[in-house]
This record gives sequence, structure tokens and C-alpha cells, in this order.
Amino acid sequence: MHLLSTVFSLFIFVYLSGILNCYDIWNDVPCFKQFTPEECKPENVELLTVDDYDKCGPAALEKNARNYFLGASGRRLTYKDNKDAFSRIKIVPKVLRDVSRNQINSSTLGIEVDFPIGASPVALQRLAHPDGELATVKGLSNFKTIMILSNFASTLIEDVGKAAEGTLLQLWMQVYLYKDRRVTLDIVRRAERSGFKAFVTTVDAPVHAFITCNARAKSFSLNASVVNVDASVVGNGDVSDLSLTFEDITWLKSQTKLPIIVKGILNGNDAKRAILAGASAIMVSNHGGRQMDGTLATIDALPKVVAAVNKLYPRRQVFLDGGVRSGTDVYKALARGARMVFVGRPTIWGLALGGSEGVRKMMTLLRNDFNQTMLIAGASKPSEIKEDTLLPALNKLLGIIDV
Ligand SMILES: *[C@@H]1O[C@H](CO)[C@@H](O)[C@H](O)[C@H]1NC(C)=O
Ligand SMILES: *[C@@H]1O[C@H](CO)[C@@H](O)[C@H](O)[C@H]1NC(C)=O
Ligand SMILES: *[C@@H]1O[C@H](CO)[C@@H](O)[C@H](O)[C@H]1NC(C)=O
Repeated sequence: MHLLSTVFSLFIFVYLSGILNCYDIWNDVPCFKQFTPEECKPENVELLTVDDYDKCGPAALEKNARNYFLGASGRRLTYKDNKDAFSRIKIVPKVLRDVSRNQINSSTLGIEVDFPIGASPVALQRLAHPDGELATVKGLSNFKTIMILSNFASTLIEDVGKAAEGTLLQLWMQVYLYKDRRVTLDIVRRAERSGFKAFVTTVDAPVHAFITCNARAKSFSLNASVVNVDASVVGNGDVSDLSLTFEDITWLKSQTKLPIIVKGILNGNDAKRAILAGASAIMVSNHGGRQMDGTLATIDALPKVVAAVNKLYPRRQVFLDGGVRSGTDVYKALARGARMVFVGRPTIWGLALGGSEGVRKMMTLLRNDFNQTMLIAGASKPSEIKEDTLLPALNKLLGIIDV
């Protein structure tokens, strides 16, 4: 009887903790296991790498926020593979290259950046820190880089614009193509007036994919809301117009003088069509594994997209987000032809662990690690990061992949 009741209460405990945080029972990435708040106390762990932020960021959040940001669709294959795919690529350094005048700065779409790493759009940042997007701006404001504000931000476009004014940080605005185009245009005009320098339109979400873990957390509710679009427009995850085609990119292009970056592309043909429709640049992205589960990791999709874009307009740029957690990841993406990379979840973990200071530290770690990677690989500036320092070699890959 005693034993039975122990077994029963154990069962209840496991069952309940499963409901409370399904990532504890679906611990599908052993080396990225979710650390507990206890394990993440400053006396137990020093945040020395972006992987440390990945491990301890979630522990700093309450369960709904944690599940929201860790969320990925389906079996979470793409979420995992974005990171794993970087590990499958090897860097072969070039030695004795005089790297004493090493520079890691770059430029894109008329913007000079201190390093080719920016912040991806992530919704509802007030879930990660009370100051939300404003803390992210503050954390990045001493860097010449780019932050992409989410269409589903929890801070007004105008307030984010004001916070970045006079700082080194530049802003781009993510915008969806809504059924009601007036909603899209409202965002476009407000961002233009607030000093944003480009639009990033996400095209991989005709509907928002089902996030199992969030659905299982029965009491799932978010303690922050979307403030730049009417919640009734956003509706039940029905974000954009199901009838969208490449002509709608041309429409968006016709509505603004600012460049349009099309985000969410994973193959060469789509990249080509987006450019022909008016895109100034392409962002290779799979929505951080939150849309099509089981698709290509972004670093694996990149070569084909770069080859297709280069064939058409050699000067058009390609960006990447998804799975970037170290300087070597940044290096690999640049070697495969990305002009810049963007990080999403790491920014959120920085916010969760230390507000603006956490964001600044996370970005500093990534920058320093990229600098070190370049020095050891024998590259003195980003344009010297060449594909021939990676294995498997691109010509082999492109032989298999039909560009
Ligand atoms: C990097 O900075 C140096 C020094 O300010 C500048 O001369 C160079 O043009 C910059 N590189 C790029 C790619 O913008
Ligand atoms: C929700 O937000 C309010 C106001 O910012 C705060 O006082 C409260 O503690 C938050 N609740 C949770 C569960 O985070
Ligand atoms: C890169 O590292 C070198 C060597 O430590 C250092 O001199 C340089 O200032 C670093 N560059 C940046 C941008 O941090």
C-alpha cells in the first residue's frame, strides 16, 4: 500500500510537471537540456558562451514565456537541425596570413555595421523582460548594427524608433502582408516616420504552425500583447493573406522607397522570383523552426539561394537566421555567401538573464568569438572569408543540389 501510493504520487508528480513544462519531459536535445533556475544561479554557472545563454535563458522565465520562446513546430526537427547543421560543417584554417590588421566590420543596404551580426525579429519581448523591445534597443545601442523589430512587438513602433534615435543602432521593420492591406500600410508609414531603414516581409507563414508544447500547457496565456496591430486583425493565428503571390512583393515595393527584404526563403528558385518581384535582399530563414518542421536547416539552404541570387544579380545580398550560436557559425554562414546573420532566441535569453545588459553581453560574446574565428582561420576582413575554407566543399554540394 505504501509502495503503491509512492508510485502513484510519483506518477502524479511526473504527469503534473509534464503539464507544467513539457520541455522537461521532451528533452530532445541532450546538450541543450533545460537547466533549472538552481543550476543557473550565478554561483553555479558563468555565462561565457552563447550556448550558456541558450541553456540558462529559459530557466530565467516563467513557464508560459519559456514555452512561447522555446516553441517550435511539429517534432522540433528543424529547430534542432538549425544548430546541428552548423556542427556538420568544418572550417579548415589558412595559417600564416598576417591578420594583424584584422577588421570585422561590414556594410549592408547602405548601413555600416561593426560586425555582420544583427537581431532577428522576435515577438512580444516584454514577456522576456518588463522593458521588452526598449531593453533590446538599449543593449544594442552602442553597436553599429541592425535590429529588426517584430510585427508583433509589445512596444510601439514610435517608441522603439525614439529609443534608437541618435544611437549607433539602425532599425528595420518586419511587416506581414495582411488581407487588409491598410493594416500593412499603417505599419509601413509609421515605421518610415520613425526612422526605420528597411522592411523585412516574412513569407513563410500563410498560417502560423501548430506549436504542440504551447497547446499542451492548458493554461497557456501570455502576459504581454501585440501593440502595433489590432489584436482582432491578428486573429486566431491567421496572419496573412492565403492568396499571396510574388506579385504582392511587387505591390509592397511600390508602396515605399525603402528596401524590401524577403524573409523565409529556402530555395534558389523562390529567391530568384523574390528578387525579380522587387526584393532588395533575401533572408534565408525557416522561422526558427516554428513553421515547416522537417525542412532544411538554414545553413544547408543557403548555398543554393546564394548561387541563384548571384547568377541573377551578383551584388544582391543574402542574409541568414536560424541556429547561429557562435562565432564559428557566423563564419560558416559568411563563407557560404551570407552578407550578415541575425540571431533571435539568443537576444531573448540575453533579455531574460540581464535585460539590456544581458543583450549587450550576449552580442559582445558573439562578436568576440567571430573576431577570434576570423583571426585563427586567417581572414583579415569579412570579404576574405571564403568558401574554400569549409568542408564539405560547395562545388560538391551544388553538384547534388539543382540550382
Ligand atoms: C571597415 O572599417 C574601416 C575603418 O573604418 C573602413 O575603412 C572600411 O571601409 C570598413 N569596411 C567595410 C566593409 O565597410
Ligand atoms: C504580468 O505583468 C504584470 C505587469 O507588468 C506583472 O505585475 C505580473 O507580475 C506579470 N505576471 C507574470 C505571471 O509574469
Ligand atoms: C579582434 O581581436 C584582436 C586580437 O585580440 C584585437 O586586437 C581586436 O581589437 C579585436 N577586434 C574587435 C573588433 O574586437
